[in-house]
Amino acid sequence: MKIMVIGGGGREHAIIKKLKQSPGVDIIYALPGNGGIAQDAICVDIGANNISLIVEFANNTSIDFAVVAPDDPLVLGCVDELEKAGIPCFGPNKNAAIIEGSKVFSKNLMKKYGIPTASYEVFTDMIKALDYLDNAPIPTVIKADGLALGKGVIIATTREKAKDAVRSMMEDKVFGESGSTVVIEEFLEGPEVSVLSFTDGKTVVPMVSSMDHKRAHDNDEGLNTGGMGTIAPNPYYTNAIAAECMEKIYIPTMNAMNAEERTFKGCLYFGLMLTSKGPKVIEYNCRFGDPETQVVLPLLESDLVDIMFATRNGTLVDTEVKFSSDAACCVIMASKGYPEKYEKGFEISLPSPEPEDTEIYVAGAKLENGKLLTNGGRVLGVTAKADTLKSAIDKAYKAVNLVHIKNAFYRKDIGQKALKAFEKDV
Ligand code: AMP
Ligand code: GLY
Repeated sequence: MKIMVIGGGGREHAIIKKLKQSPGVDIIYALPGNGGIAQDAICVDIGANNISLIVEFANNTSIDFAVVAPDDPLVLGCVDELEKAGIPCFGPNKNAAIIEGSKVFSKNLMKKYGIPTASYEVFTDMIKALDYLDNAPIPTVIKADGLALGKGVIIATTREKAKDAVRSMMEDKVFGESGSTVVIEEFLEGPEVSVLSFTDGKTVVPMVSSMDHKRAHDNDEGLNTGGMGTIAPNPYYTNAIAAECMEKIYIPTMNAMNAEERTFKGCLYFGLMLTSKGPKVIEYNCRFGDPETQVVLPLLESDLVDIMFATRNGTLVDTEVKFSSDAACCVIMASKGYPEKYEKGFEISLPSPEPEDTEIYVAGAKLENGKLLTNGGRVLGVTAKADTLKSAIDKAYKAVNLVHIKNAFYRKDIGQKALKAFEKDV
C-alpha cells in the first residue's frame, strides 16, 4: 500500500514512524516532510496547503490512502478534494474541520448542545467589544475567531491589556481576517489535559491522555509556543474524570456534529481544563496535536493503518485501539530565540542508533549536502518510554544529552508538574 502524509513537522514524523510498523504499508510519501522525515519516508516538495498539487501528485502516484495532518489543509478542504479524486483519507471533511477553524462555530455548538465550556460573547464590532470590556470580569480571555498559528489567544490580566488585545486583533489585524470576529470568554482555572480521540462519527475512542508544556521556559515562564514538551498519561485525568468527559463532552460533541450534518471523522482533539466545576472544553482541534502525538502514538500498540481506515469506513467499534500502560515523555529542542526571532542553518548531530525505547521526531530541519541543519523554531523532539513517568523523563533527558545542536535550547522541567501530581496521588 502507498500512503501519503500531508505535513512536515514532528507530529507528522511520529505518524510516519507508527505507520511504518503496519505490515500492509510499502511506501510512505511525505508532502513536504523535512530533512529528518527523509529517513523514514520519500519527501516530495509540495507544500501542505497546495491542495491542487497534492491531488495531482496523489493521482499520478496511485496513492491508496492519505493522512492529512495539519489544521490549515483540513480547514481548506484537502480531504474533500482528495475524496473527489477517489482517494480515501484520514481526517475530517471541510464542513467538520470548522470545529477548529472557527472559534465562534465551536463555542456556539457547545452552547446549543450543552457541552461544558467557558461562558463567552462574540463581537464583530470593535466599539461594542471595548464597551463590553468596561464591565467584564478580569482576567479575561480574548480569542481571534479563525486560525492564527496557535497565537490567537490572549489572556488579559488587566482591562487595558484586554482592550489592547481587541484593538490589535480587530483594528491592527495582527492575525489578518482571523481576528475580524473575536470571542471574549470567561477565564478558567485548573489543570489542563489534552485528549486526542479517534472517531468515525458513530464511536469515539479516546487515546491515552497527555499534558503539553506551552511556555518557552522552565516553571511555565516566557512566551506561549507551539509546545515545548509533553508527557502521557496525564496524572490529573483519573478514570472518574475520563468517564465524566465521555458522557458530558466526547459523545455529546460527536452527536452534535452529526445533528449539524457535519459528521466528524478522523482525530478529534479535546483541549480540556479540569475546573472546580468539572471538566470544560478550552478548545477543539480537528487533528492530532503537536507535540502530543509524539507521546501518544509511541504508546499505541494496535495497527494505526487499520484504525485510520476504520474512521473512514465507520467500523471503529470493531477495531482494536489498545495503548500500553507505559508512560512517555517528549522534550522539544528549539532554536535559540524561538518563538520570536531565531537563526537557522546550524548542524544537528543525532545519536546513532537511537537509544533503547527512544525516538527522535524531527520538526524543523533540512538536509543539505548530506548534513542535517536546523530550519525552524522547534527543531526536534526526543521521546522516551518507560514503565513509570519518572523513568521516561530520565531516559528522555539522557537521550537529549546525546543530541548536539548549536544554538538550541530546551526546557529542563518537562513532566515535573505531572510527577508532583502523581506524588500527591490526585
Ligand atoms: P490555544 O492557543 O488555543 O492552544 O490556547 C492557548 C492556551 O490559552 C490554552 O492552552 C490555555 O492554557 C489558555 N486558555 C485558553 N482559553 C482559556 C480560558 N477560557 N481560560 C483560561 N485559559 C485559557
Ligand atoms: N499542542 C497543541 C496543539 O497541537 O494545538
